[in-house]
Amino acid sequence: MPVYRSALLRFADDGTALYDEDGLLAVGPDAQGRQRVLAAGAWQALAPRYAGQPVVPLPGRILAPGFVDMHIHFPQTDVIASPADGLLPWLEQHTYPQETRFAAPGHCAQVAQFFIAELLRNGVSTALAFGSSHPASVDALFAEARRQQMRLIAGKVLQDRHSPDGVRDQTGQSLLDTQALIRRWHGVERLGYAITPRFAPTSTPEQLRGAGELAALHPDVWIQSHVAENRHEVRWARALFPAARSYLAVYHGFGLLRQRAVYAHCIHFDDEDRALMRASGAVAAVCPSSNLFLGSGFFDYARAERAGFGYGLASDVGGGSSFCPLHTMLAAYYVARARRVPPAFDLSPRRLWWLHTAGAAKALGLAGVVGNLQPGCEADFVVLNPRATPLLERRTGQAASLDELLFALIVLGDDRVIERTVISQAKYYAGA
Ligand code: GUN
Ligand code: ZN
Repeated sequence: MPVYRSALLRFADDGTALYDEDGLLAVGPDAQGRQRVLAAGAWQALAPRYAGQPVVPLPGRILAPGFVDMHIHFPQTDVIASPADGLLPWLEQHTYPQETRFAAPGHCAQVAQFFIAELLRNGVSTALAFGSSHPASVDALFAEARRQQMRLIAGKVLQDRHSPDGVRDQTGQSLLDTQALIRRWHGVERLGYAITPRFAPTSTPEQLRGAGELAALHPDVWIQSHVAENRHEVRWARALFPAARSYLAVYHGFGLLRQRAVYAHCIHFDDEDRALMRASGAVAAVCPSSNLFLGSGFFDYARAERAGFGYGLASDVGGGSSFCPLHTMLAAYYVARARRVPPAFDLSPRRLWWLHTAGAAKALGLAGVVGNLQPGCEADFVVLNPRATPLLERRTGQAASLDELLFALIVLGDDRVIERTVISQAKYYAGA
């Protein structure tokens, strides 16, 4: 049972950041052999409890919860950095052609290996991911996540209209495939399934109805989709579903708003939409680097806070421009500043950090499971090096508070800060 001695960042249940400059993290296996946090806090207070145990000292490093990415596209690994004149041309010009390649299982396996490695290299230990419309893409992704013992939620994209050959699926078969994938993967070790309609414009009402029926049959399965990202997209959705009060209401009408339903973007909302998010228990995956890259708009943090619906941060690779959570937190800060968010919204770096760890886990219904290092949590964590570059060393060396330290990491940091990502698995510790 390893005991780590290092600076330690974690969060109280109410989101308050807890920081011990000289901290102790003790982890040990549960009945299933999965490593969990046994104790976390100040070294001085906890060390007597672990006298005689082997200690792993990590001087100059910070242990922090593994990051949680609430929205990312596995088959868009090779789409990243492809500019276009807005969302819809970007889908046509870059995204669908790349996703077509996932008809080949060999390609799925090769990209899955890279994608999971890249998440882990960037400190992301839990993700909610889109596959492509090909069931084999999801099989490949889950197989690789399982091999790495990573907590991953994913689903096959449903898109049976307004999509080119090669990515368009067939209504009946797509629902049968989804059902089979739920049976095959949901609840297997650390894996979970998400019913995944791409967005309302590319699904027939029949496909959305079928997705809602599957969601009702499997209340502990997740749902993921996109909503109100781009003004042209909103206009298109409204034209296709004229009877619905709003774009978001389309999903409501098909039973696709509920707990464990995660909607990316949620930008072009009115207050009735925000109230519906809260009332239904659906949450938003906020994707600031994607929204800036595609020119989609700006998530309204203040109105989301006022309405009281849940949200957390996400990369949205390949619309998003980085796998790195530090980059996403910085983009979130830029967006919130650009909107001149009133003091009601807390722009502190500890809050941004929470939104990409414990806050994102809470939004996914995984509070107390991942995204934190409180006793009982699965022991997924990152080892951060606050001196990873000369400028970081200089700036973090002068940090006089936790906020200054975290801000320097967010503004100046990148993947070089993530020295190691430790996944809660027996294998890692067996030889350590
Ligand atoms: N809306 C529908 N599909 C997509 C996608 O792949 N990425 C983003 N950002 N928005 C979408
Ligand atoms: Zn997306």
